[in-house]
Amino acid sequence: MTILERYIDLHQRSAALYRRAEGVFPDGVTHDVRRQGPFPLYVERAAGSHKTDVDGNELIDFVMGHGALLLGHQHPHVVEAVAAQAQRGTHLGASTDLEIRWGELVQQLVPSAEKVRFTSSGTEATMLAVRLARAATGREKVIRLREHFHGWNDSVTGQPTAESTLPVSSGLPRGFLEASIVLPANDVDALDRTVREEGAQVAAMLIEATGAHWGTIPIEQSYVEKARALTREHGIVLILDEVITGFRVAPGGAQEAYGIIPDLTTMAKILGGGLPGGAVAGRADILDQIAGARGGARVSHPGTYNANPLSASAGIACLSLCADGTHQARAASAAAAIARGMNAAFREESLTGAVYGHASMLHIALGLAEQPPDGYSWGFHALPASPAPVPGEAWQALRRGMLNEGVDLMAFGLMVSSAHTADDAEQTVEALRRTLRAMKAEGLAF
Ligand SMILES: Cc1ncc(COP(=O)(O)O)c(C=O)c1O
Repeated sequence: MTILERYIDLHQRSAALYRRAEGVFPDGVTHDVRRQGPFPLYVERAAGSHKTDVDGNELIDFVMGHGALLLGHQHPHVVEAVAAQAQRGTHLGASTDLEIRWGELVQQLVPSAEKVRFTSSGTEATMLAVRLARAATGREKVIRLREHFHGWNDSVTGQPTAESTLPVSSGLPRGFLEASIVLPANDVDALDRTVREEGAQVAAMLIEATGAHWGTIPIEQSYVEKARALTREHGIVLILDEVITGFRVAPGGAQEAYGIIPDLTTMAKILGGGLPGGAVAGRADILDQIAGARGGARVSHPGTYNANPLSASAGIACLSLCADGTHQARAASAAAAIARGMNAAFREESLTGAVYGHASMLHIALGLAEQPPDGYSWGFHALPASPAPVPGEAWQALRRGMLNEGVDLMAFGLMVSSAHTADDAEQTVEALRRTLRAMKAEGLAF
């Protein structure tokens, strides 16, 4: 049986649900990244590091709520907090003590957080951060880095580059594209030139804290440091997007690990303990533009679900547990074991590929000839070389093959949680070994 035939055979109920879903949703799915041929998996329940699909297959989960679940699924503290709050009311239509405690935890943990404002998602956080920066500077342009992802609001979605002016989404007003400057990451000269030539029109620079796609294309710490210095010199608001890295790379996020203080930080995911939530935190003078005393010149920011009590209680439970770094260290140690085992599997199967990452985030690069010297991480450095191109069929076979073997990857990476065990690590490495063998048997060698 081929990898694809086995995938279809193992997931009949998912296939049937997908046929129904196609009549309801475009592409049959509710998130762009859940598109998967010939059909995606439908999952019924999850606990700890595992989840179970509708066909009864058990999976080791490395999607982990798209990175929201540092503590794993159903952590008892979070479940208890949410259940207790549900009994007291899910939306109180008023200010609450919960939101203060949640905000104070953010202030306590995140080095740059002088003030905080909650949103309902990371997309809303980056939208608000850019608005605040434009209001603070009276400028419109925004510098972003090629491939860096900041959600789907119009201010951060277009990707005009020197080679192409095509946006990654149609439907964007021309003005948003014209206000975007997209630069290659890790190129200090390009940034230096741009801020010297256009700095007077630039409101903000956004950086995905550990590099594009949560570090798949890692960023150099020295570049982030240079960006900090140049943005300060030119009066540009530096926004560090810590939607994924916040509370994961360290209790205070990547900024704590780098020792760099951005003007604004965007957060979501772990912030909400697995429930919807986002935040912008940072310089009090910038956040205080939201304050009502400013009258007409203020930055407006409503939002029905901002700091809603369920998310706030999950967030408080989660951040309280994340404060001393134990969960981050446990997750990172599981990630290191997985990366080392997977790198060994590539070598043993004589295939070109590497697994690398930072803290508890890992990336699989087929076609990458060099592996990290310690089998796990290059630290805050760019990749030593570009991966050789590998056919799309090989990537698809890898994803489906791993699902057949009981491992759900986050695209081609792994979000490791503190609930992942040594046993999970061993099984995951074994799953990769079997998948690579199945790929070779289908002629998908690289
Ligand atoms: C770095 C980064 N910023 C922003 C977002 C958008 O967050 P959300 O999906 O909560 O809107 C994401 C989502 O994955 C992200 O990875």
